Amino acid sequence: MIRSQPRFSAFSTVLHWLMALLILAMLFSGIGMAASVSERYKWLVSIHRPLGIAILILVVIRYLNRLANPPPLMPATMTALERFGAKASHLLLYTLMLVLPLVGWGMLSAASYPVVLYGSLQLPPILPHSLAIYALLRNLHTYLAYLLFATFLAHLGAALLHGLIRQDGVLSSMASWQRTRSTQRCIDSQLTVPASVSSSAETLEHLPPLLVLPATDAQALELTVEDTASTHVAAIGTPE
Ligand code: HEM
Ligand code: HEM
Repeated sequence: MIRSQPRFSAFSTVLHWLMALLILAMLFSGIGMAASVSERYKWLVSIHRPLGIAILILVVIRYLNRLANPPPLMPATMTALERFGAKASHLLLYTLMLVLPLVGWGMLSAASYPVVLYGSLQLPPILPHSLAIYALLRNLHTYLAYLLFATFLAHLGAALLHGLIRQDGVLSSMASWQRTRSTQRCIDSQLTVPASVSSSAETLEHLPPLLVLPATDAQALELTVEDTASTHVAAIGTPE
C-alpha cells in the first residue's frame, strides 16, 4: 500500500517550483506576445512554444509521480469546505497545466503554423487546418490562461495564509529547505516522526515531556513534541 508522507518528496517539490516558474514565464510571455508588434514578438513566441510543450511533458511526469508519492494529508484544523476548496483548486491547476498547452498546440495546428521547438525540430499538427477551429481555440487559450492566473492567485493566497498566519506546516511541506520547522501536518493511520527526531526508544527517552493535545478530529490524536531546536508535531491514528 502506498502511504502519504509527512511532506512532499524532494522530486515533487522540485517539479512544483520549476513548473511554477515556467507557468509564470508563460503567462507573462503570452501577454507580452499578444501586446507586441515589434521584433520582440518573434523572440517571445520562440520561447513560449517550447516552454509550453515542456510544461505539457512535465505535468504528465508530475501526475505519475503524484500517483507513486501521494501528497501529505491535510491538517486536522482544516474544515471540510477548506479541504474541498484545496482539492478542487489543485485539480483545476493540474487540468489547466495539461489543457492549456494542448489548446496552444491545437490552435497553431489549425492555423497551419509549425510548432517549432528548436531549430528544425518541429511537432506534427494535432488538428486539421481550419480557421474556425483556430478562432475558437485562440479565444479559449486566452480565457483558460486568465483562469489559470486567477487560480494561481487564489493558490498563492491560500499558501500564504497557511504559511504566515496558521503556521500549520502546509507551506513548509512544499518548501523542503525549511527543515528546521518541520511540522507533521497530517492525520494518518500510522506513527510518523519528523526526520530530525529519531524514532528509537533511546532517543525518545531523552526528549522533554510530551504535551498531549485534545484530538480535533475523531480519527486521530496529535502529540506536540518541543525540543530546543524546533517544534514538531507527530500524528498517531487510532487503532482500527
Ligand atoms: C501552460 C501553458 C501556456 C500558458 C500559461 C499560455 C499563456 C498564454 C497567454 C497568457 C497568452 C496571451 C493571450 C492573450 O492575451 O490573448 C498566450 C498566447 C499564445 N500562446 Fe500560449 N500559453 C501556454 C501554452 C502554449 C503553447 C504550448 C503554445 C504553442 C505550442 C502556445 C501558443 C500561443 C500563441 C500562438 C499565442 C498567441 C500569440 C499572439 O497573440 O499572436 N501557448 N498564451
Ligand atoms: C503557477 C504557479 C503554481 C502552480 C501551477 C502550483 C500548483 C500546485 C499544485 C497542483 C499543487 C498540489 C500538489 C499536488 O497535489 O501534487 C500545489 C501545492 C502547493 N503549492 Fe503550489 N503552485 C504554484 C505556485 C505556488 C506558490 C507561488 C506557492 C507559495 C507561495 C505555492 C505553494 C504551494 C503549497 C504550500 C502547496 C501544498 C499545498 C497542499 O498540499 O495543500 N504554490 N501547487
